[in-house]
Amino acid sequence: MQRKKPAPLSVWRPLNLDRFLLGAPHYPEHVDECCWQRDAERMAAAGVNTVRMGEFAWHIFEPREDRFEFGLFDRAIELLGRAGIDTIMCTPTATPPRWLTVNYPEVLRVDINGRASSHGSRQHADTTSPVFRAHSRRITRAMAEHYRDNPRVIGWQTDNELNTTVSESFAPSTRLEFQKYLQKAYGTIEALNFAWGGHFWATAYDDFSQIDLPRPLMPSYPSPGHVQDYHRFLAAATAAFQHDQVEILRAANPDWFIFHNLGQLADIDFRGQFGQDLDFIGFDIYPMLYDEMRRTGGHAATQALHLDICRAYSGNFIVPEQASGFGSQPGFSTMTPEPGEMRRMAMTSVARGADGVMFFRWRPAHFGAEIYWMGIIDHDDVPRRRYDEASRFFHEIAGIKDHILGTVVRMDLGIAGADFDNQEAHKTYPIGLPSPLDDATLLHRHCYHKGIACGFIHLEDDLSRLKALYVPHWVMWKDQWNAAVETFVRNGGTLILSALSGTRDENNHIIREQAPGTALSALSGVKVTEFGRLVPEGANGLFPLFRQAAMGAYVPPSPLPASSAQRKYRFTFGNRQFDAAHLYELLEVAPGTEVLGSWSDRFCAGQPAITCRELGKGRVVYVGTYLTPELAEAIVSTVLARAGIAPLLPELPAGVEVSIRESENRQLMFIQNTTDLPAALPGAPLGTDLLTGRSTANGLQLEAYGCAVVLLRP
Ligand code: GAL
Repeated sequence: MQRKKPAPLSVWRPLNLDRFLLGAPHYPEHVDECCWQRDAERMAAAGVNTVRMGEFAWHIFEPREDRFEFGLFDRAIELLGRAGIDTIMCTPTATPPRWLTVNYPEVLRVDINGRASSHGSRQHADTTSPVFRAHSRRITRAMAEHYRDNPRVIGWQTDNELNTTVSESFAPSTRLEFQKYLQKAYGTIEALNFAWGGHFWATAYDDFSQIDLPRPLMPSYPSPGHVQDYHRFLAAATAAFQHDQVEILRAANPDWFIFHNLGQLADIDFRGQFGQDLDFIGFDIYPMLYDEMRRTGGHAATQALHLDICRAYSGNFIVPEQASGFGSQPGFSTMTPEPGEMRRMAMTSVARGADGVMFFRWRPAHFGAEIYWMGIIDHDDVPRRRYDEASRFFHEIAGIKDHILGTVVRMDLGIAGADFDNQEAHKTYPIGLPSPLDDATLLHRHCYHKGIACGFIHLEDDLSRLKALYVPHWVMWKDQWNAAVETFVRNGGTLILSALSGTRDENNHIIREQAPGTALSALSGVKVTEFGRLVPEGANGLFPLFRQAAMGAYVPPSPLPASSAQRKYRFTFGNRQFDAAHLYELLEVAPGTEVLGSWSDRFCAGQPAITCRELGKGRVVYVGTYLTPELAEAIVSTVLARAGIAPLLPELPAGVEVSIRESENRQLMFIQNTTDLPAALPGAPLGTDLLTGRSTANGLQLEAYGCAVVLLRP
């Protein structure tokens, strides 16, 4: 295994490994030892080259404090190694053992009502706790020293899906750590009082030791500054917790690669220290689970969205857990991938930047809180269709890996993403508006269905490869981004800014100039004279949100009186009229700035809503409202088309997805049929489908859930 020093974080960064990791998380501690040899043989036959182990086995590694036992895992690693299978080891800190929580109960996470977690599931320990951090360092050091010279242990995963079950803690020790964090960040209490607006509701402090953790709606709303800093603190604490482990592992063996597997993306600033410490990031991909949780438009579109969001943090990644079958925990279950779909979903991950895929899990557990979470092999130890599909996928990828490694995913449209402060700023003061990501999802979904090369990118990344850049309501605009976006536009790019952009500073104070602030006004040629909320018909924009949060339970919105519910705000754009949603802005337009769309109704009638300013070889479009599915579509067919963005395939059958991975000397077009019916692509570009070896000269036929990887003819 060759590990190169990772390049700086960028969506355009390939993995720094010379191998495509193929395999599964494996739990030898759940399997009778007499089955291990056959497991290894079956894995090898399927094309597994790597397994991941140990993330929930602290009680086995350290059955009593400071008494370490590695025998079980040593035997498993060695036996698999003899079959040619390497191991990724995990730090087991998601599940501290019972002796630890009995002897050190102060490590337990505490909820907003002051209740400590009970022992008996996972992620019950508080990563902000100094005592827990000391134990985390101890177990990491013991494991690192034990495995430092084991050639079969090739890399590490830190913990497991940090912050996924819960990211917050309200323990007394968390409060102390928060105070220390604030003291370091602000230096003086006066600076903090200014940042949080201490003269509002008498929230000023005399000393850092007086500061509490923010508890929203106990009884009313804390300052957005206070809430934002709590989440910045949680992210810094999560990064520090991981950093302890990374430092120990790197010192033990600098050849090991280190990553973390992300789950729910809460309170982690991936572009900060958290991501910079790692070789690459791992994303656990459960499309059916995430789609049912968020209802973002079908699990294929949701999977593509997740992969694109995540790639923006650090570039190509691995999927340490890729859904393989039916999945459940006692409180929920997911849909089941149909025959062919497990391979299709894995291929989608590769198509959008995965340089390693491991199917969750080798075998399902017979006990515990995931007994019906299926794996590659069935409960009765019989390999059936999931084994066959995993095996087919592993062999296919092994056969084409040299074409794939070193390529990155093409994006013509970049959506600004991966910014911790903007994502949190929205949450501190949501007022019922869509989050930047909710808004961006509409544009992403439309591009996905059209087959447009679209993804997410941070504004500090290399923008030069994009044709257009959409910034979804980033309220915290940083001056350091001005030069980069202006250069992008002057060089021919199309920048699309949206309502409320740049209206707050980094303390969550509203800026004192006219929105969107001096720099963005100069760039876009617009100034906002007024804004207001547009409540969807029949909904009440105010009270239910308050009640919902206050009571901790969903309260259905009561309909508004007919007179206000019927207020409609529409605007024209091109030659169409659109219903507006969420928010209107009235714009003052500088000379030379073209008006592309105007408000149609009520007192707004005739005032500009969407504008365009030519600058250098490019243009800046300002959209004074939020996206709707119709507006997203219109932006694609007008503004993006003018920016030279066209679908990657002229005729894309419904349910077929397409993306390109490329490097300087090659282009691979990934095409996946996400439906259970065959699909024909007569207009496929000329090249060779690497999976079948066939030319696309006569088009491409895809079976149900079929996939093609076309090496395009230069
Ligand atoms: C992941 C987690 C795994 C397992 C899996 C299926 O989020 O990392 O440990 O729980 O989901 O539930």
